[in-house]
Amino acid sequence: MQFLKLRLQNTYAVAQARKKDICGYAPHTKNSAMPDIRNISLNKEKTVVEIHWGDDHKSSWDAILLRLYCQCDRCVDKICLSSLNEDTFVQSVKLDTAPTDNDLLVEIGNDIFDKHVTKISLTWLRLNCYCDLCLNNAIAERQTSFVDPQISFIPSVEYSRIVDDRDAGLFEVAERVMKVGFCVIKDTPTVEETVIKVAEMFAPVHETVTNKMFNVRIQPGPRNTAHTALGLCYHQDLPWYETEPGVQFLHALKFDEDIEGGESQFVDLFQVAEILRKEDPEAFNDLARIPATYETIDYIRAKPAHYETLKPHIELDYFGNVVALHWNPGVEGTLRAKGDDVKKYYRGYNKLLGIIRRKELEWAFRMDAGDIIVFNNHRMVHARKAYSSKENGQRHLQGCYISLDEFRSVYVTLGESLNREVPLFKVGNKSSF
Ligand SMILES: [Fe+2]
Ligand SMILES: [Zn+2]
Ligand SMILES: [Zn+2]
Repeated sequence: MQFLKLRLQNTYAVAQARKKDICGYAPHTKNSAMPDIRNISLNKEKTVVEIHWGDDHKSSWDAILLRLYCQCDRCVDKICLSSLNEDTFVQSVKLDTAPTDNDLLVEIGNDIFDKHVTKISLTWLRLNCYCDLCLNNAIAERQTSFVDPQISFIPSVEYSRIVDDRDAGLFEVAERVMKVGFCVIKDTPTVEETVIKVAEMFAPVHETVTNKMFNVRIQPGPRNTAHTALGLCYHQDLPWYETEPGVQFLHALKFDEDIEGGESQFVDLFQVAEILRKEDPEAFNDLARIPATYETIDYIRAKPAHYETLKPHIELDYFGNVVALHWNPGVEGTLRAKGDDVKKYYRGYNKLLGIIRRKELEWAFRMDAGDIIVFNNHRMVHARKAYSSKENGQRHLQGCYISLDEFRSVYVTLGESLNREVPLFKVGNKSSF
């Protein structure tokens, strides 16, 4: 298969809002002028300051938050929520008239400091506005957008790019993983443990039950389907950990020409979950509620293992946003659900499985020797087609994992240092942000 570089679209309209805690409201990124203040008022109970901006937007700031986020010299880094009085109210509010400051000044009743006036920059208040519109905008910006495998090239970066300009090359790999869910690094050396060397350019390798590095090849007396030539159905690795390993690196040391089959397959679970939510909300809600069981209990293997955990296939956060997904039929344990939920669970399960198997969602390609696939194990399910060889051809992969948190941090900080746009996509770390 011919690999071509994915041309990433620079259409991240609100990327510059990334440094803001909450608000990603597009017109108020760092390059935008702040709107004027039309009016500032208090609610009847004097617990909320309402700011009516010149562009018609309205922000409501609870007095307790204004006090908590005070930016005056006395408060910065010296106050925490537990030190605030609960019955905080507003005694007075005004704008700083100094032309350069542009601050809101608020006198809070029952302040813990004597003669204290809360001072907060208006720019900060607008950028951190937590109204429904701003919160929804911020969440929408972080949604992963589905990249259609039917019309897109396999996302890839030449290894020589990393050799020539390490920061730029690593960022380009990370950017594709963040946007699409995976990326292929082409033409790395076909030398043992290269996968560890490349992974550790991003972050330390995370040791698991499969050790620092694992081999995927036919082995005698296999205790894992990965060590046969059979097909592997869609799964995420190691879901019986509290949190699955975040980013997987898989290096094709050998993938001989005469091997038939063995193609790698990927599907974006975020896309799958949103299709399920749209097509069958009841199944979606059931799978977000009823836990699946994942386990590996094996006392016979060289390093005995006893791992088990319960978690639903779909995890939602406070906002109802899908923030984590879990799928691995190969290591499911006994369902531990209440009787009424058993039928509902399997109904939802079959619906989800049916969507995962849709051909139009599937990336399928054959690795070349030297390829390293880097993928987000929280977002993508992966699979392998069965393979065979008439001439004793070898297929040998080596793999390892690193932390998704570390990987995302490298993506953002490298992007910043290279002055690239760094949209913060949802990654499946149980958080919308
Ligand atoms: Fe796997
Ligand atoms: Zn203060
Ligand atoms: Zn707002």
